[in-house]
Amino acid sequence: MELAELARHWDAFGRSDPLWAILTAPGTRGNRWDPAAFFQTGQREITELLRTLDELGLPPPRGAALDFGCGVGRLSQALAGHFERVVGVDIAASMIDRARAANRYGTRVRYVQNERDDLACLPDSEFGLIYSNIVLQHMEPRFARAYIGEFLRVLSPAGVICFQLPERRAASPVSASRSAPPTAKTATPSGHAERDENAIGDDWQPRMEMWGTPPQEVQRWIHARGGLLVSRLQDSGAGPDWIGHRYVVTHAAHPRHAQISTATPSTTR
Ligand SMILES: C[S@@+](CC[C@H](N)C(=O)[O-])C[C@H]1O[C@@H](n2cnc3c(N)ncnc32)[C@H](O)[C@@H]1O
Repeated sequence: MELAELARHWDAFGRSDPLWAILTAPGTRGNRWDPAAFFQTGQREITELLRTLDELGLPPPRGAALDFGCGVGRLSQALAGHFERVVGVDIAASMIDRARAANRYGTRVRYVQNERDDLACLPDSEFGLIYSNIVLQHMEPRFARAYIGEFLRVLSPAGVICFQLPERRAASPVSASRSAPPTAKTATPSGHAERDENAIGDDWQPRMEMWGTPPQEVQRWIHARGGLLVSRLQDSGAGPDWIGHRYVVTHAAHPRHAQISTATPSTTR
């Protein structure tokens, strides 16, 4: 799916049932998420993220944070409790509208809609933390690769990137050298089975693509853009059917690596 098409699908999710489209928890379909409980999940997630980065000896500088694929701001709002400034970027105008409406931090949090395959809307070397969860899995790997390259461009010298990306469906191993083709086209908000995305009129239903990429390939993308994979942690964000990872990345020239070997092995826990 090209980015314009992707934007159309996510914009429809954002207009119909945004919280469920973001976190498909049982019993929450049909705008039944309690917004306070929904945003609480973001608080817990960011607390846990910062604890993990501390444990890795990589506390991010607390200036600016980027939340890529911010949706309605579940994580951006939580990041604002720890960082001076937060930028949330999303492809869907409806998600950005809802994020702005739910913003509790005034000008300290800024939301930007971006349909491009780059982050030209953001300056070089700006962010101490770049976080992206349950986003890159929903686009073709060529786009995920381009955005990861951009993360490294907008990352500050001592900054840290953490993003989630599945590898493959647990039951369907793929070649280690190629990205997995799109698989789960998950249920639509109305609960109908997958529909033809080209159907017209009332039959059209938004859908989510799911893509997996082998970690070796992700590591190549990172290294090609001057990044260092510091750690690869097991992640279940794509659901129980998927084998997934959370990647922690810095610039290869991050100050911490001046004291230790740059050949730090990646770890899985
Ligand atoms: C499952 S939601 C996750 C939202 C948020 N990360 C969270 O965890 O609360 C995925 C989000 O990614 C956004 N998205 C998908 N493709 C994108 C792209 N190419 N650029 C920016 N945002 C994108 C969607 O619009 C949607 O808001």
